Amino acid sequence: MTRISRRRALALGGAGLAAAIAGAAGWAATDGPIARVGDLDPGGSTDEGLARPAELVARDGRLDVELVAAAGVRVAGRDARALGYNGSSPGPTLRVRPGDELAVRLTNRLDQPTNLHTHGLRVSPQGNGDNPFVQIEPGASFDYRYRVPADHPPGTQWYHPHHHGMVADQLFGGLAGALLVDGGPALPVADDRVLLVTDITLDPDGSVAAVGPTDRMRGREGDLVLVNGQHRPMVPATSGHAQRWRIVNACTSRVFALRLEGHPLTRIAQDGTFLPSPVAESQAVLAPGNRTDVVVSPVGAGRFALILDPVDRGDGMMGGTRSGGPLTLATLVVDGPAASAPALPATLPAESATAAATARRSTTFRMGMGGPMGGGGQAVMTIDGRTFDPDRDDQIVAAGTVEEWTVLNSGPLTHPFHLHVWPFTVVAASDGRPTTGVPEDVTLVPAGGWVKMRIAFTTHTGRSVYHCHILDHEDAGMMATVVVR
Ligand code: C2O
Ligand code: CU
Ligand code: CU
Repeated sequence: MTRISRRRALALGGAGLAAAIAGAAGWAATDGPIARVGDLDPGGSTDEGLARPAELVARDGRLDVELVAAAGVRVAGRDARALGYNGSSPGPTLRVRPGDELAVRLTNRLDQPTNLHTHGLRVSPQGNGDNPFVQIEPGASFDYRYRVPADHPPGTQWYHPHHHGMVADQLFGGLAGALLVDGGPALPVADDRVLLVTDITLDPDGSVAAVGPTDRMRGREGDLVLVNGQHRPMVPATSGHAQRWRIVNACTSRVFALRLEGHPLTRIAQDGTFLPSPVAESQAVLAPGNRTDVVVSPVGAGRFALILDPVDRGDGMMGGTRSGGPLTLATLVVDGPAASAPALPATLPAESATAAATARRSTTFRMGMGGPMGGGGQAVMTIDGRTFDPDRDDQIVAAGTVEEWTVLNSGPLTHPFHLHVWPFTVVAASDGRPTTGVPEDVTLVPAGGWVKMRIAFTTHTGRSVYHCHILDHEDAGMMATVVVR
């Protein structure tokens, strides 16, 4: 497939661009033009309402779910050979409450091994819990059982595959879904929606495009950016009626900033846990893996674009790594006479601050060139000089302690640091960013910079991983083990 270059797309603009793209991509041409990253008209949108993924809700303290991972789903309103759970991408939204048991039978109908990770859920990493070392072969099933602690914070988590070496391909293909822990204060909102953002590139025949070595080195970004599997849906709203949007960055590598025309985004939670109080912001920045819950309060009728702005991820080694855009992700369509929504509570049930650390350690993420004298042309992704080895214990932590970790990045690209099971509270970062004071699970470590964080290893024991959430980097080896015992 000949794809039109970004520079040429910029030169064409508007209708010429759409026509050129439709001509270049037969897959798009069969059903009319598909706007792509680089489209300079952020005003357009379809009239398709934002879909709600199917919800599977726990009852009487448990939720039993069957998930089948397989190819063949609708993407952007067309049949594609992309991947999904139970025939859709995103997969069903799983809803549990603190204290519940979640049982998932995952059946693998892919042509390669897979497994499941409950990103953000603070559950045991052992056995058939949130164990990233499980391998489910094609045709096989595996029964996961997660016990959600009774004191688990309510919030927005998500699930995706985590089989080392295939994570990026499987997430990029469409395997992701939301996982909500219900509870928390009753907020004065008329609607509560998941906005799970993915990106993908499809070939003319509707199959997921192959990804080359440069894209794997930088971290691939798809040509289509979707919300709940849809391209530019509209979100209906009524003036004076607020909505909670649970935004999940389920893209493989893309870091983005969101803004909504004419409205602030009032952030109430980050990475599945409440902030101390609502914060009205002009934009929300999400690294891959991050979740942000915002409240949107429409006050008058109109159409307002939810715009995705690109965020620079550093220089890379073969030119800049900056995604296209701005582009319209969705359009808020507000009806009704001007009215203002009821005020949010002034305080939210944020967790109390993490206790002071009693031990310190540091770990260094590095992207370098391998081969003789570093001139081999092969990117090498390491943590503390080594690529991932599932059988090696990299960090051994005493259970029950609080540690201060300094995560360093000695390379030219930003790396989003992610730790399973045990969230961290950012204390300071080399770029001087404001900190939230609450536990998070993905944070950007700037190129040549560092982030200092406190981690309470006081909940679960067991063996798990930390890694770069640019999943191409994780698959290339930028992952390490942590053992809490
Ligand atoms: Cu969302 Cu180990 O990842
Ligand atoms: Cu995770
Ligand atoms: Cu990385």
